[in-house]
Amino acid sequence: MSTETLDRSLVMDAVQVSEAAAIAAWSLVGRGDEKAADQAAVDAMRTALNELDIDGVIVIGEGERDEAPMLYIGEKVGKGGPRIDIALDPLEGTTLTAKAMANALAVMAWAPAGTLLHAPDTYMDKIACGPGFPAGLLDLDKTPAENVRALAKAKGVEPSHITVCVLDRPRHADIIASLREVGARVYLITDGDVAGVMNTADAETGVDMYVGQGGAPEGVLACAALKCVGGQFQGRLVFRNADERARAKSHGITDFDKKYDLHEMVRSDAIFVATGVTDGALLDGVKLERGFVHTHTLVMNSATRTVREVRMKRSV
Ligand code: FBP
Repeated sequence: MSTETLDRSLVMDAVQVSEAAAIAAWSLVGRGDEKAADQAAVDAMRTALNELDIDGVIVIGEGERDEAPMLYIGEKVGKGGPRIDIALDPLEGTTLTAKAMANALAVMAWAPAGTLLHAPDTYMDKIACGPGFPAGLLDLDKTPAENVRALAKAKGVEPSHITVCVLDRPRHADIIASLREVGARVYLITDGDVAGVMNTADAETGVDMYVGQGGAPEGVLACAALKCVGGQFQGRLVFRNADERARAKSHGITDFDKKYDLHEMVRSDAIFVATGVTDGALLDGVKLERGFVHTHTLVMNSATRTVREVRMKRSV
């Protein structure tokens, strides 16, 4: 599939798949069962994908074939059509959903076959900011404080006016200390770093930068979003053991220390779609009102440089 075929009908197909996953997950919001919520989203997303006229391959999914019966890496979906790489997370924020907390999403990225980084299910060091800054502004090899200073200078403000989103994890203690040392505001999130990165591209969220270690698959999804709206991203895979290195090798990765930029993780145009499961800074969650289910979806196509907000209402 060429980038020209990332057309409007594919965009709307992607929206319907994402809506289906979000609605399915929503039925489990606040029920304390992360696995059931994830499974509901996976089932719905897979069913919806298999109804489409696409020749899709899951390149980022629920895990390797031996550990994920559905939407495993390498699984083919669709009834035939344009060849598409699909990165997906049917429920980004399983804990957020189980605890009825903000910012759970159903999320996918679609791109022409062979153009998305096949990121293994390891951690990734990530740093991101929104659009409008000189290329190469942020660097994982600089300290968080240095990156804040660089961003503040480019923005023409004091470092104390920079807000940085970070996953609230003990492993980020040094990052948080470095950010506070330079006077930045630290916006801690409990989960959901796709939304965390996306926040940097939306001035209304007040978030200027994202930094920290999260899932590598989520890194590719976040990159697809930034590719559509502009912004910078740098990621480096983090390996905790030989097994994770072996996984990376099996995905064709040989340089374990490589810093990937956005265009190396998403090497062509892409469609990014996210539907809110619970309310969040960017998206409203699913609602059931007077016999209608309501969804709120953000869908972007970097080929046509369009960002659409889609509100769907369907009787149930
Ligand atoms: P799940 O939806 O799979 O629970 O992932 C949520 C998440 O917060 C991601 O957004 C993030 O990349 C990752 O988990 C962080 O991992 P960890 O919880 O191990 O720090």
